[in-house]
Amino acid sequence: MTGHNPGEPLPTPSPVKGLGAIVLAAGLGKRMRSNKAKVLHEVAGRPMVLYAVELAQRLASEGVVVVVGYQGRDITAVIEAAAAVNSAWVTQPLLIANQVQQLGTGHAVMQARAAFAKARGGPAQTFLLVNGDTPLLREATLRKLIRVHQAEMATVTVLTAVLENPVGYGRVVRDATGRVVQIVEDCDVTEADSRPREINAGAYVVEGKFLFEVLDQLQPRNVQREYYLTDIVKAAVEQGLPTSALAVDEPAEGLGINSRQQLAAAESVLRRMICERWMKAGVTVRDPATTVIEADVWIGRDTILHPYVTLEGHTTIGEECEIRSWTRITSSILGNRVAVQDHCVVREARLEDETSVGPFAHLRLGAVVRTRAKVGNFVEMKQAELGQGSKANHLTYLGDARIGRDVNIGAGTTTCNYDGVQKHETVIEDEVFVGSDTQFIAPVKVGRGAVIAAGSTIVEDIPSDALAIARATQVTRPGWAARKRMAPPQKRTAQKQQRKK
Ligand code: UD1
Ligand code: CA
Repeated sequence: MTGHNPGEPLPTPSPVKGLGAIVLAAGLGKRMRSNKAKVLHEVAGRPMVLYAVELAQRLASEGVVVVVGYQGRDITAVIEAAAAVNSAWVTQPLLIANQVQQLGTGHAVMQARAAFAKARGGPAQTFLLVNGDTPLLREATLRKLIRVHQAEMATVTVLTAVLENPVGYGRVVRDATGRVVQIVEDCDVTEADSRPREINAGAYVVEGKFLFEVLDQLQPRNVQREYYLTDIVKAAVEQGLPTSALAVDEPAEGLGINSRQQLAAAESVLRRMICERWMKAGVTVRDPATTVIEADVWIGRDTILHPYVTLEGHTTIGEECEIRSWTRITSSILGNRVAVQDHCVVREARLEDETSVGPFAHLRLGAVVRTRAKVGNFVEMKQAELGQGSKANHLTYLGDARIGRDVNIGAGTTTCNYDGVQKHETVIEDEVFVGSDTQFIAPVKVGRGAVIAAGSTIVEDIPSDALAIARATQVTRPGWAARKRMAPPQKRTAQKQQRKK
């Protein structure tokens, strides 16, 4: 699946020789004020840690270690689930290291050492280090960072961004020659500092030998009493080792998420980028400002998205489809030339070519609408298949049902699939005509070409080509209503009293 680089589709990964990667994802994320670890919060429908893990997976050749701690088990599960569906990820050993106490980013990196030592005889290579909370970083930028590191034969290379508002970030301090000499954390910035607007974006390339030696010497001498990874810059300078830096072109790329406000900011940037991507690929997005397309969605050309459409999860939409306003489609598959009218909810369903759905339809888990079939307004489907060319146009519930081709399901039809204990199946074969307001008391089967009269409650199987009618016989009394109206008022009262006695 795609996901990370929403500007353009991802090419096949080409890992960098000799590079290992470490993703930092152990922190709680206090400033989110959440019960959930920060890196599990979603941006464009993906837990944010997956952006960093995917980049690491695509760039490294010598293994990726994700450092987890707070809610580590949940984070590991999310990563493993993503790895299972992303074939590009399996080329790379993915290891998890545990940081039991979150003593800072420097301490977190130290926890990865053992995992690497086990995986490849020791840390003798170069490492890419990425924070787990920067979902807008692009692969191209990190490749450039690696190239700068190599070209300058640096020991430490830092990715930076120049921000209007650098509050909350580590500031990059350069000397008179422009060389990066130190990163000062926001809370440690003193009046004496010039308060540079260049910030540390939380991605680094570091020589392995230096990295693990210097980490052992880190001291938590700062306001937060933490082991800061950022202190390795100053340490390199003190040892006379070369440092370098790369500033991102687009400052938004450096956005690190610590708060709900930053989460919303990242979401809005990513949403715009994803809409751009699909417009470039030939999709009409009538109003990108109100269109939500999550990271793992795929859309075919000449599809039209009207305002206020939400496409979520692993949804795939074919070519020349039209999705009308206020519709939400989640983890579903749509073929070509599918029309979804306004106000539909489609979840884990499948709509084949040239189907038409809605307005106000609710297609739930396991709903399958076969080619050219039509689902109309106020129709709900769950674990139900509507065969090729069949129609369920009005006010209907189809649950646990297999419906063949060219079937007409009349208005107000209900499959009574639940007896209070168990679910049962309704089977309707090809070319059946189901009259309006029919109930199927499942399990029940209707043979090919049968006709069911309107208002029937079907409790028994119906053979092919039969007529079934199951409703009370109509009683008609000519003139009754008129006689009732004609009766004088006293007589009516007397009649009423008579009845009461
Ligand atoms: C960090 C940088 C800061 C930079 C900013 C960029 C340090 C000391 N500061 O600050 O210079 O501008 O990122 O966004 O590195 N984590 C652990 N274990 C820990 C602490 C953190 O794994 O003990 C992980 C977090 O889960 C997170 C990442 O490291 O994914 C960064 O931690 P965070 O607390 O967000 O650092 P910032 O204060 O944003
Ligand atoms: Ca952060």
